[in-house]
Amino acid sequence: MRLILRRWREADLDSLIRLANNRRIWINLADPFPHPYTHADGQGWIALTAAEGDPQLQFAIDVDGQAIGGIGLKRLPEQHPQSLEVGYWVGEPYWGRGIASEALARVTEYAFNKLGAERVQAQVFAYNLASARVLEKNGYTLEGRLRRAARKDGQIIDKLMYSIIA
Ligand SMILES: CC(C)(COP(=O)(O)OP(=O)(O)OC[C@H]1O[C@@H](n2cnc3c(N)ncnc32)[C@H](O)[C@@H]1OP(=O)(O)O)[C@@H](O)C(=O)NCCC(=O)NCCS
Repeated sequence: MRLILRRWREADLDSLIRLANNRRIWINLADPFPHPYTHADGQGWIALTAAEGDPQLQFAIDVDGQAIGGIGLKRLPEQHPQSLEVGYWVGEPYWGRGIASEALARVTEYAFNKLGAERVQAQVFAYNLASARVLEKNGYTLEGRLRRAARKDGQIIDKLMYSIIA
């Protein structure tokens, strides 16, 4: 398996829509991630991320030449300029092969060594044991449980706050 992180491009559109249009992905992501995931959503995402300047913050996870998921960083200026949040998803046919773990390792390294991050955090819905495991395998620490701090699919749920510091 050859995994690279790169910009999203127009040729990814079919793959993006096919893999992102999945309730099992949507249920684990904050609500701006759409469901159903339409053609227009995919076009909008590719246009938005293609227009991003440097340093790049949003990446397609490319496995053997195909974009099969996404990973990205968001700055948290309300905390401070070197504080970032990471988010990611992998297309369901590719789950369980270590792809998210490898992508997170690369983006974490990028955040510290290229962006000068002091802190990278991740917020995980409490039922998302796979994502918690991916974070723990990458040295992220569970800081706490944010009780009843999110709403998903009409339910109020707990979130887990993970972080890693420089
Ligand atoms: C979470 C997600 C990114 C994981 O991607 P992946 O490429 O399958 O992850 P990896 O293969 O690198 O690692 C998954 C780990 O979770 C473990 N795992 C999977 N399901 C699990 C479960 N129900 N309970 C506990 N651990 C679980 C796997 O065994 C593996 O750990 P291991 O390497 O120690 O065996 C993927 O399932 C996904 O995209 N889910 C929907 C979106 C999402 O949750 N994004 C993250 C939001 S915070």
